Amino acid sequence: MKRLNSQLQQDGAPLELILLIRTLLAACKEISFRVSQGALAGVLGSTLSENVQGETQKKLDVISNQILKDTLRESGYVKAISSEEEEDVVPCSPDGNYLVSFDPLDGSSNTEINSLIGTIFSITHAPQWMEADDPSAFLQPGTQSVAAGYVLYGPSTMLAMTTGKGTHIYTLDKTHGGFLLTKPNIELPTQTSEFSINASNQRHWEDPMQRYVADLILGADGPREKDFNMRWVAAMVGDIHRVLCRGGIFMYPFDNRNPEKPGKLRLLYEANPMAFLVEQAGGLADTGEGRIMEVMPTEIHQRVPTIIGSKEEVETCLSYYK
Ligand code: AHG
Ligand code: MN
Ligand code: MN
Repeated sequence: MKRLNSQLQQDGAPLELILLIRTLLAACKEISFRVSQGALAGVLGSTLSENVQGETQKKLDVISNQILKDTLRESGYVKAISSEEEEDVVPCSPDGNYLVSFDPLDGSSNTEINSLIGTIFSITHAPQWMEADDPSAFLQPGTQSVAAGYVLYGPSTMLAMTTGKGTHIYTLDKTHGGFLLTKPNIELPTQTSEFSINASNQRHWEDPMQRYVADLILGADGPREKDFNMRWVAAMVGDIHRVLCRGGIFMYPFDNRNPEKPGKLRLLYEANPMAFLVEQAGGLADTGEGRIMEVMPTEIHQRVPTIIGSKEEVETCLSYYK
């Protein structure tokens, strides 16, 4: 089976980017090991602290963030990082050529139930003019990303990644520590009969989403004239992984609970990297008002509504917004 390095070379990734990706993945392998040790290593449960988003941090949120931060700071390739678990941008090497945004542990409520979790990341060039502690360089639309992906810590540890030349899925071979290409050139089916949304928030959704999901639930008895199935992992990495494997539509829509939080998911290190992966696999990723990857961020922890998945199904969903 092909190794990650050869695929990255084949896709034309520059050497320094390949080295950065390998460094980042070395950190993810360590997280994978810690996660697998679970209660034996005392890594489960919550801390007493909250992150900038007001969420209680799990021990694994803090550990994963620290592993990624230390590894990237020491690498020399990275000028600065932004993380879900860091209020501000963290300066790294002044001469680094790249910026990395990441969600160190996505789906952290799943840690207590030994269910799917992962790390999501996005890489852009570091502009020459920026100081390492300048957050404005992170405020670029997702179209500027040079690489994005996630590592899923499931029954297997898997990597989905794109450098803009298709989306490929790799599996970590724990016998020698390498990521091997197990699903090259993902192509999402354009149609689906599977959707993914936290239906407990239904009363808070905006009107187009109310009408769209109501029609999905009507199934064969409604205007869609077919039955749909529903899945919710409560970790975006798990839900998007399913979409990449067999198609589907994943939504965390705008809801009216708090106008300052338009949707739950964060643009820089959740929505954008997943949008890049899904678009590279032939799918679509939209906020309901436009392409996610074209949203101009105004702050590093900005949230966006997300509608991501199989092309024709996303288009159908968006038709309710017109
Ligand atoms: P995180 O664990 O990084 O805070 O992200 C959790 C996110 C996302 O992964 C998932 O889709 C969503 O929150 C789950 O939200 P609900 O609590 O509404 O299920
Ligand atoms: Mn997350
Ligand atoms: Mn997280």
